[in-house]
Amino acid sequence: MAAPSLHGLAMNRMRPFAALCSLLLCKLLAPVLAQAPEGSLLEHREEGEVRLAEVRRYVLRARKARLGLFVQIGHHDWASQISQCLEEVLSATDEPTGVHLNFVNGTAPSDDEVEELLGYVQGKHSKANIFVTNSAGAAADMPQFLMQLDSATRGGVDYDILLKLRVSPRDDVQQLASQALCGTRFHVRSVLNAFASRPSLDLIAPAGTIVDRKTSKKHLAPSVFNKVLGNRSWRGFSEGSAKGFRSLLLMNTGHVGLNEAEDLATYVAGGSFWLRREAEPLKTAVAAIPRLAPLIQKKNDEAQALELALEGFVTTALRLRGRSLATMPPAPKVIAMYYPQFHQVPELEKFFGDGYTDWKALQDFKGEGLRKPLSEERGGLGFYDLMKRQVRGRQAQLAKQHGVHGFSYYHYWFGGEGGQNKSVMWKVPYQVLHDGQPNLPYFFTWANEPWTRKFSGQAGEDGTGTLIPQTYGDREHWEEHFEHLMQYFKDHRYMKIDNKPVFAILRPQLLEQKLEPMLKLWRSLAVEKGFSGLYILSSVGRRFYEEHNYKAELLDGAFHHAPSCRDLCGGVASDRDLYLVKEQHQYWGAATGFDGRVHGNSGALHVTPKTFQQALVGSFANMTAMPQRHVPENLFFVGSWNHWAEQHTLEPDDKYVFGYLQALRNALEHVKPRELEARETATQETV
Ligand SMILES: *[C@@H]1O[C@H](CO)[C@@H](O)[C@H](O)[C@H]1NC(C)=O
Ligand SMILES: *[C@@H]1O[C@H](CO)[C@@H](O)[C@H](O)[C@H]1NC(C)=O
Ligand SMILES: *[C@@H]1O[C@H](CO)[C@@H](O)[C@H](O)[C@H]1NC(C)=O
Ligand SMILES: *[C@@H]1O[C@H](CO)[C@@H](O)[C@H](O)[C@H]1NC(C)=O
Repeated sequence: MAAPSLHGLAMNRMRPFAALCSLLLCKLLAPVLAQAPEGSLLEHREEGEVRLAEVRRYVLRARKARLGLFVQIGHHDWASQISQCLEEVLSATDEPTGVHLNFVNGTAPSDDEVEELLGYVQGKHSKANIFVTNSAGAAADMPQFLMQLDSATRGGVDYDILLKLRVSPRDDVQQLASQALCGTRFHVRSVLNAFASRPSLDLIAPAGTIVDRKTSKKHLAPSVFNKVLGNRSWRGFSEGSAKGFRSLLLMNTGHVGLNEAEDLATYVAGGSFWLRREAEPLKTAVAAIPRLAPLIQKKNDEAQALELALEGFVTTALRLRGRSLATMPPAPKVIAMYYPQFHQVPELEKFFGDGYTDWKALQDFKGEGLRKPLSEERGGLGFYDLMKRQVRGRQAQLAKQHGVHGFSYYHYWFGGEGGQNKSVMWKVPYQVLHDGQPNLPYFFTWANEPWTRKFSGQAGEDGTGTLIPQTYGDREHWEEHFEHLMQYFKDHRYMKIDNKPVFAILRPQLLEQKLEPMLKLWRSLAVEKGFSGLYILSSVGRRFYEEHNYKAELLDGAFHHAPSCRDLCGGVASDRDLYLVKEQHQYWGAATGFDGRVHGNSGALHVTPKTFQQALVGSFANMTAMPQRHVPENLFFVGSWNHWAEQHTLEPDDKYVFGYLQALRNALEHVKPRELEARETATQETV
């Protein structure tokens, strides 16, 4: 464990607060409490000067920083919620970055915890500033944020772009926010690229969280519609907050009141967004804080109305000024399909002759126009042997650098006779488990077709092409299979969704009546082992629609990764078949190409890195346009990492070099925020 991690801290935060109030901490807090009257959050020094109760600790490495992350922490489970976001923001750029953590509601961290935090941030970023502050009392989120910002500005620390992140316990809206605003470092770069290239853009919120009186269900994330709005449209501000609002607007724009602006009254549900520091309404609000703070402190009805008004003020004033507000989808997390056959495999040699590998097939093939792996001398991986740990380590490194979140290993398990073993080509996953490389998240995709001579899952007319049939066995067989899988499910890198190991079945329809009892058994075995079940996916591919013979509720989702449902899906990435997929969660994907010749099949789809990138950009843009799309994580499947014999690869090749990987990374770093439609901004006569 080289770099300090926040996980330990997250565990510590589970302890009840009482346990944290060590002598040391109580001593440390005493002077603060003495300075700030009980129940108030501000300390007044002289007239006009207001600052947070106490700056607990900070490291200051740069006064002028590009990015500032602001979090109010009001409950004890905060570390697990912000650690990923913090990590991704700090990894996104080398430019100076500030982290402001303000603890309210009696959640002040212990001295040791503060040390740990400082160490963590210092270890992640050489130019990061961190400020840990405590506020004695509680206030709404937005005023706290403004006060933090005001105090930072007074301290001479300034930013270009701010991320305001709200944390709240077990909240879907908050989860959506951290995935959409800082789900990956590539996604954070997309945000920064958007601010840099669009001068009129001032705010970026998670897709489906910007609410005005005209937004309907189809504009909103399900969690916002169901939970925040209670399945209704928003009706606008209450009379009380409207009053506070009006005075704020007057301060900001001089002449526009709420009445003229009713349809533009807007807020961000969940209260998390990226914001340009120079945005006029933000400057107004920060400047007003010294005057507003004493009013808010009164904690009466008027104070509450003012707090509410502040929640919507910046967003509304931006729209009145004709500035643009935009939304981002949850960060795409790329899963690349990974083929394990590039080493000596007894079954391959038995069927195709001694020394057979897919490399040999590729090298022996006489046709034109095939891409071969880039040589090691040129920085590629060459015709590698997957039994070498170093090769798998390098794959992981390339994957991480270019935005591949994880691999889905093809998993081969047969019921029929013919192999040496039920488990075929098991050595790569076995090595992953035992020597740790690739050190990436992963899960299995069960290639559950019969093994045929042309690797197509389709035997010849007379059945002769079948090398190992699939019979799918019975209860005992399913138990054995599950036991084999269990050793992987236990691995911390094995991906889980809601504590359910993810497992994909390429063509579940082939199991026919056995599918339901097998999954039922597996799910109950998983529960016995301490998981909450299994998260089972099927692939939207060849024959998916024709053969879809099972109840969609049996599975949890379906994913795209290849354009093999050609008539319907078309293109390299497409959402044309969206409405045909019945599984609850649908994951999108894209393909890097296809050429069937090496394995004796027909069909080809040539995809250049450029067309691949365009398809990704289009697909990511469409995600923002569908905020109502509901997936627990925005997994995005790419076919494939390394299917050299069929020519769908991300790995470097001798023709495009690092072209596909760079295309992937470019697309991930240029996910386009979608601006609020003109419909929503041009409704008012005077602005
Ligand atoms: C602090 O507690 C109050 C009252 O329970 C709550 O409204 C507020 O959201 C909390 N603050 C944070 C930052 O969690
Ligand atoms: C809104 O509807 C959903 C789905 O019907 C339901 O689960 C949820 O509890 C409802 N929310 C409220 C606040 O009524
Ligand atoms: C069969 O597969 C298992 C892994 O599932 C492996 O440990 C065993 O060595 C294999 N046996 C042969 C003959 O390949
Ligand atoms: C994005 O959506 C548009 C409009 O529905 C559609 O024409 C296009 O094919 C989609 N692109 C991708 C890559 O899914």
